[in-house]
Amino acid sequence: MISKINEIKEQALKDISGAKNALSLDNVWKKYLGRRDGKLTKVLRNVKKLPIEERPKVGELANTVRQEIILEINKTKASLSSGGSNSSIDIDRTLPGKNIKFGHLHPLTQMRFNVAQIFSSLGFEVLESNEIETEYYNFEALNIPKGHPARDMWDTFFIESKKNQKSKLLLQTHTSPMQIHVMEKRKPPLKVCVIGKCFRNEATDASHEHTIYQLEAFSVGKEISVANLIHTLKSFLGLLFKKEVEVRLRPSYFPFTEPSFEMDFKCLNCNGSGCQVCGQTGWVEILGCGMIHPKVYEAVGYPKNTYTGFAFGVGLDRLVMMKHQIDDIRWLHSGDLRFIRQF
Ligand code: PHE
Repeated sequence: MISKINEIKEQALKDISGAKNALSLDNVWKKYLGRRDGKLTKVLRNVKKLPIEERPKVGELANTVRQEIILEINKTKASLSSGGSNSSIDIDRTLPGKNIKFGHLHPLTQMRFNVAQIFSSLGFEVLESNEIETEYYNFEALNIPKGHPARDMWDTFFIESKKNQKSKLLLQTHTSPMQIHVMEKRKPPLKVCVIGKCFRNEATDASHEHTIYQLEAFSVGKEISVANLIHTLKSFLGLLFKKEVEVRLRPSYFPFTEPSFEMDFKCLNCNGSGCQVCGQTGWVEILGCGMIHPKVYEAVGYPKNTYTGFAFGVGLDRLVMMKHQIDDIRWLHSGDLRFIRQF
């Protein structure tokens, strides 16, 4: 038995030194150490059949030989993979490494995450909106009946609807339909922030895109007032721009809020003295807002004269443009890596 083991060892070492690549070394491994048919494995398996007094000696030798073969295979493998030199590893450690390029989040995605984080820190629940809506949710429930001229505020992409579809399908033009979805299902108090993609059938230019991200926030409860709206807006912008922000409201019109406002903030670039960013006015127009209209509460079945609440909607693309001083909205969806890599 002992001479057989030594013979196996010699054969194995010969095979190893004759191996030209990792594959042939793997075959040597299988031939001698393979779990089922390896020559040495078989010997080891049969040790228990030997007379008791021979077992330790033979077992020990077979195990040592096994270790020697493994060591030799590994050594040869290492020298083969370092270019064949048997002596030492033959690589130039001073060469610069391969540069791995990492991707990163798109500036719009960064903004989405950023505003979601800010609103949850202000105690708002953050939801995602639908992209396809019905005419009812996008318009009618928001107090914009068929034929109402306010529908012209949003040029709409309609989608082919089924014949028996009660309300036509469309790509949502704003995130306000989520006010209806949430209020239909739940009772106040509500503090909700919605982020979603909106679509408008418009000719594109430096400040208009057909696809934009909108952020909508609304709060409904008892005795919620314009003061709560202003405080929320100021806190939001302050956290976003990391600066104290001065805001002003101007009267405006939205069918689903009354009163309605446009909100401006004092230009952070010139601090109100007038510059290119604010068109020399000192103020930057940023969002539409107002107190939720009683007709909206009626549409969701809330009892009359019970709740008040505010809502506002802001384009995230515009916020990204302000933050990074981007002069053309079309860059954002261009997919141009030269643009995206700057953020
Ligand atoms: N949905 C409006 C728009 O897209 C913005 C808005 C939201 C205005 C909430 C008032 C209240 O223009």
